[in-house]
Amino acid sequence: MAEETLLYEGKAKKVFATSDPGVVRVLYKDDATAFNGEKRGTIAGKGAINNQMSNLLFRYLEEHGVPTHFVEEISERETLVRKVEIIPLEVVVRNIAAGSFSKRFGIEEGTPLERPLVEFYYKNDALGDPLVTDDHALILHLATADDLAELRRLALAVNDLLVRRFREAGLILVDFKLEFGRLPSGEIVLADEISPDTCRLWDERTREKLDKDRFRRDLGGVEEAYQEVWARLKGGVAR
Ligand code: TMP
Ligand code: ASP
Repeated sequence: MAEETLLYEGKAKKVFATSDPGVVRVLYKDDATAFNGEKRGTIAGKGAINNQMSNLLFRYLEEHGVPTHFVEEISERETLVRKVEIIPLEVVVRNIAAGSFSKRFGIEEGTPLERPLVEFYYKNDALGDPLVTDDHALILHLATADDLAELRRLALAVNDLLVRRFREAGLILVDFKLEFGRLPSGEIVLADEISPDTCRLWDERTREKLDKDRFRRDLGGVEEAYQEVWARLKGGVAR
């Protein structure tokens, strides 16, 4: 079937062509990697959770005015999305110091930041996704100045909306990574996924980590953390 043409296989997802040239099918895998692929494993049930959670959040963001690539969920693990040209920048937003920010600047994990921080990383596995300044991005032709302004605006809007949505689920949104794509019209839309793979989420009361850091740091209870986040977001769990 023409539908089965594999266009791309990443660490956590496969992307297939469909009969519509403007639409692709994304299949979420249970595979997990960290530290640029150095650490590998499987998180049972992750594909289904990340797919459904991303879709729930993309619908919520769309309802609040953020354009996304989302079209239609077609199974637990599969979604149709608009075909975009991915902008080669990972856009990270941080509310609380953690991860590479804590390490780079020697600031204790858990320290609140005085306002949300937006960072750009060059999406390039061979280089280990280095942090880039606006000038780096411009001189390397990764994006235009207008693009960077739009990415920052959208990322901060997404942050405000997600902080609120996760708070309703008893979760603190510490930081997260977004990817954006360009439609044939030139419009920039939110793409990729929003899941415990791409967000740091802490329990609001205990500050327990409920995200991929449990896998990265060998903390155990990885599957349970993903299930907990998904159950809370769906609103199915009494706390
Ligand atoms: P960092 O502290 O390691 O820079 O990560 C910041 C956020 O970005 C964190 O929520 C995890 C997410 N992230 C990804 O989604 N993919 C990546 O490859 C990396 C390094 C981080
Ligand atoms: N996804 C990235 C990798 O595979 C890193 C991470 O999420 O920590 O290496």
